[in-house]
Amino acid sequence: MKILGIETSCDETAAAVVEDGARILSNQIASQVEIHARYGGIVPEVASRQHILAIIPIIEQAMAEAKASWSDLGGIAVTIGPGLAGSLLVGVNVAKVIALSHDLPITGVNHLEGHIYANWLVNRSPLFPLVCLIVSGGHSDLVLMRGHGDYIVLGRTRDDAAGEAFDKAARILGLGYPGGPAIEQAARNGTAASLKLPRAWLKGSSDFSFSGVKTALLRLVEGGKVSSVADAAASFQEAVVDVLVTKTVAVAREHRVKQILLAGGVASNELLRNWLVQNSPLPVLVPEPILCTDNAAMIAACGYYRLQAAKIDGLDLDVTPSLKLA
Ligand code: KG4
Ligand code: ZN
Repeated sequence: MKILGIETSCDETAAAVVEDGARILSNQIASQVEIHARYGGIVPEVASRQHILAIIPIIEQAMAEAKASWSDLGGIAVTIGPGLAGSLLVGVNVAKVIALSHDLPITGVNHLEGHIYANWLVNRSPLFPLVCLIVSGGHSDLVLMRGHGDYIVLGRTRDDAAGEAFDKAARILGLGYPGGPAIEQAARNGTAASLKLPRAWLKGSSDFSFSGVKTALLRLVEGGKVSSVADAAASFQEAVVDVLVTKTVAVAREHRVKQILLAGGVASNELLRNWLVQNSPLPVLVPEPILCTDNAAMIAACGYYRLQAAKIDGLDLDVTPSLKLA
């Protein structure tokens, strides 16, 4: 079954065709990153206008690349939240028009669930029960998954998400937007041990907190204690990764799961990927970087499993900007 996935929750307009939730036939992404970089962050109004301009061409490109016609499709999967309301509306309304005019079933997908399902691409079958660490611009969630569509959130951030912390730290260090890749790049020439940054372990809890490490970095910069941006970037990256890896491994052990999955934009960070693999007693699955950041193939993969479970939505499907996973 071929599913058309549509993703417009933030600043990427994306469309993809995926077969049986596993094989990517096309994966098109129109990024707005250069437009928002001028403002140092995402401007919601600008984002929704760009989605309107890009959505039809991106869907046409995805269908053409997959050599698919509408009658080849088994359904449409579209992100309904969490995300920016004006951005989500563009994808959801286009998806509904296509579903109506071609008589196709439609299913609304939680963006975070989509990130998890990037791990089913390409042709992989994670084993349940598993623990997934979702780290993106808006979320840092530790999730226990016992089967398809079955989530228990064991921990989440109490303040900044991991990606948000990277973005803010990059701004503090004058490294531009988006911050994650900029910090990772700068850190390559730095020494992580050069700055002492705090780790919020929050003993007895599986939650995260990243605002303290960000403020500590700000204080050091303001106090003239940072002589090398590369060293500061490396120290910050290691402080965040250390907490993410240690807490994820502890939760996986505690719940005796079979595998650990990584997901979300921050999962494209090499240090995080490598440290988790090195420190985990269990197999670790990580999508390739292009499937960690926002894309529509992951939405189509998740949509496949939703449609298999007869989770079909009506044409009254609406966006839910603050949608939760569980
Ligand atoms: O999942 P995503 O593409 O969008 C959201 O759903 O938020 O994640 C974007 C976040 C941004 O905060 C970005 O700075 C971060 O992921 N990010 C990274 C890296 N690539 C993207 N953080 C650390 N290292 C990276 N290589
Ligand atoms: Zn995302």
